[in-house]
Amino acid sequence: MSIYYNEVARTFTLHTKHTSYQMKVGPSNYLFHLYYGPSMTDPDLDYQIMQYDRGFSGNPYEYRNKRTFSLDALPQEFTTLQQGDFRISSIEISNSDGSYSFNGHFKDYTITKGKYKLDTLPSSFATDRDTVDSLEITLEDEISKIEVTLLYGVFEEADIITRAVKVRNNGNGRIHLKKIMSTCLDFVNGSDLEIVNLHGRYGQERNFERQRLTHHIHTISSGRGSSSHQQNPFVMLCKENTTEDAGDCYGATLVYSGNFLAEVELDQYNQARLLMGINSKQFNFILNPKDVFEAPEVLMTFTDLGFTSLSHTYHDFFRQNMCESKFVHGERPILINTWEATFFDFDDTKLIEIAKAAKNMGVELMVMDDGWFGDRMDDNAGLGDWVVNKKKIRCGLNELVKQINDIGLKFGIWFEPEMVSEDSDLYRAHPDWAMQIPGRPAVRSRNQLVLDLTRKDVQDYLIESVNAVLDSANIYYMKWDVNRSVTDIFSNELPPEQQGEVYHRYILGLYRILDGIVKTHPDILFEGCSGGGGRYDPGMLTYFPQYWNSDNTKPIDNLKLHYGTSFLYPICTMGAHVSEANPNISITTKACVAMCGTFGYELDATKLSKKEIAECRRQSRLFKKYRPIIFEGDYYRLTNPFHPGNLSAWQSVSKDKKESLISVVVTNLTVNGPQEYILAKGLNPDWFYYVDQLDMEISGSALMHIGIPIPREIPEYTSFQYHLKHKRKSNK
Ligand code: DGJ
Repeated sequence: MSIYYNEVARTFTLHTKHTSYQMKVGPSNYLFHLYYGPSMTDPDLDYQIMQYDRGFSGNPYEYRNKRTFSLDALPQEFTTLQQGDFRISSIEISNSDGSYSFNGHFKDYTITKGKYKLDTLPSSFATDRDTVDSLEITLEDEISKIEVTLLYGVFEEADIITRAVKVRNNGNGRIHLKKIMSTCLDFVNGSDLEIVNLHGRYGQERNFERQRLTHHIHTISSGRGSSSHQQNPFVMLCKENTTEDAGDCYGATLVYSGNFLAEVELDQYNQARLLMGINSKQFNFILNPKDVFEAPEVLMTFTDLGFTSLSHTYHDFFRQNMCESKFVHGERPILINTWEATFFDFDDTKLIEIAKAAKNMGVELMVMDDGWFGDRMDDNAGLGDWVVNKKKIRCGLNELVKQINDIGLKFGIWFEPEMVSEDSDLYRAHPDWAMQIPGRPAVRSRNQLVLDLTRKDVQDYLIESVNAVLDSANIYYMKWDVNRSVTDIFSNELPPEQQGEVYHRYILGLYRILDGIVKTHPDILFEGCSGGGGRYDPGMLTYFPQYWNSDNTKPIDNLKLHYGTSFLYPICTMGAHVSEANPNISITTKACVAMCGTFGYELDATKLSKKEIAECRRQSRLFKKYRPIIFEGDYYRLTNPFHPGNLSAWQSVSKDKKESLISVVVTNLTVNGPQEYILAKGLNPDWFYYVDQLDMEISGSALMHIGIPIPREIPEYTSFQYHLKHKRKSNK
């Protein structure tokens, strides 16, 4: 068992391979957080808690004569509300009498073998290889009878602790849940902490940003109805001296695809508190007596070995415990996508031409992107009508797929299920299926409206119509796109008092649709997309083994994109393509960058020269060779593209350390500059590796401490890929 309850000290201690986590049932049965960090065996770490009479920090009633006891200055596992703790809170509830109060005291607990499950939301799972235990702790407010159950999943080998929360209304009246955070992590001393987040925008997703905690509330959130391009549901807290290779860092990421909130407060006494959960923006969920609300899961980890170690933990977890698709570890074909090749201007003849040319490039899968359905000649019409456009695909879908298969390619197709165009048969038949606030014209974005996924009839229509297409031909792959943020939050099906549930119910509806489409097609490879990487989050990655990184396919911009994304997500999830963007950069360098991802092409293959086709063939051959190391190996960031420098480099190392691929792009050539070296990581220092580009054997130690000299007499944006293969042990 990795979870222990010490009856004398009344502490719960959770152990993973390298970390421990401790909490304690303290005075008055309040649940205190004592520790999260490197493994330790102390049964009770409450010696750290010092108590003083802190002016203006309230004392719960029973401590009125002991003014040193204030929840405002005590580390908690899940906060109270209106009990004298003025920091950011885990919960905001309006009780049936209208009061805002929650005073949760420990009630009971259960420890079980295996991983708990959530009923309404996706969550991580244990495989046969994992030892996982679960803990449930129930807190109760004795007056309102509201129960909060804290769920913990301890993945011992993986060094991951998951948390989720259930709120149950055991009272007699209706309550309003206005805020619910899935995790709360308190630090008695947060004075030297820094916060890292991944921010961005359309076309520039997941930029790495690091800053010192200062005395205010740092908020990382999305209120766009989806997890968004602008912020990813992921934060790290680290020490000032934490680097890639050393130092403390904590990670937290939310398995949820809607509005999220991460808050970090550094308070008046330099205590820090991290909260993560559903964004309370327009969130007001009614719980009638006996109703239960589930808040999404958070994946937490800690390491004292720096960012690389934290990333490896998450990468392994995403590859092992999040997505059940057979494609997570299965072969993912090299694809060509039609979008940047033709946009809406294609027909079956053009697709066949592209397929023939692509086959010569070594491509394995052809994806027909937006524009094949309804009356879709541009982006003003057709969304919602998931029937083939006979003006473009004259031979019919089944025949088109057969012809592409005959060329030797698998076939993939694009959908945007959640949206509707006003100029569509669907909208004409069901205008009330689009989200609009009565009496107000709805906000347009890409001239489309958002379907009301809270409705069961809408969910059923989407499941049926998308499945009908998927089952009508030999479809190998589906790209699930979503191209606008959600506004006009209103559902015709819900009464006025429940409109505050719409954001969350939208996501619950989305997950039900995904269950009905993705889970019923285990042989189809699904790729998520949201105008690029706008909803690239752990919730989506429970369904999709890969996600389109960005609509920005410029290779130099993508160096930053891959760098930032790699802090949380493994390379095998990152959709990356070679495109026509940046004509001044060679197709070789573009491929080198796109191999930091699922690798494919997004261009008109019929326009490539013979030389370029031959180069693509070479790239495809290489990628097939490197794919196992890139997808299954450990990933190392060798440079930081956000810092000034002339080289951008990254590396994949097979788990057994016998093979590695180092990729380098020369982003700048300083005139008469110094010789630069790229230091490898993660190799066995005692082994010799054959380095193909240097045609020699070099020890792991030399590769990691002297490095590889990068040639200087070359054009800017030249790239290098060094393949390392273990040859022999050193002679020492
Ligand atoms: C946005 C996606 O990111 C693109 O790849 C493409 O599929 C377009 N949508 C199609 O509308």
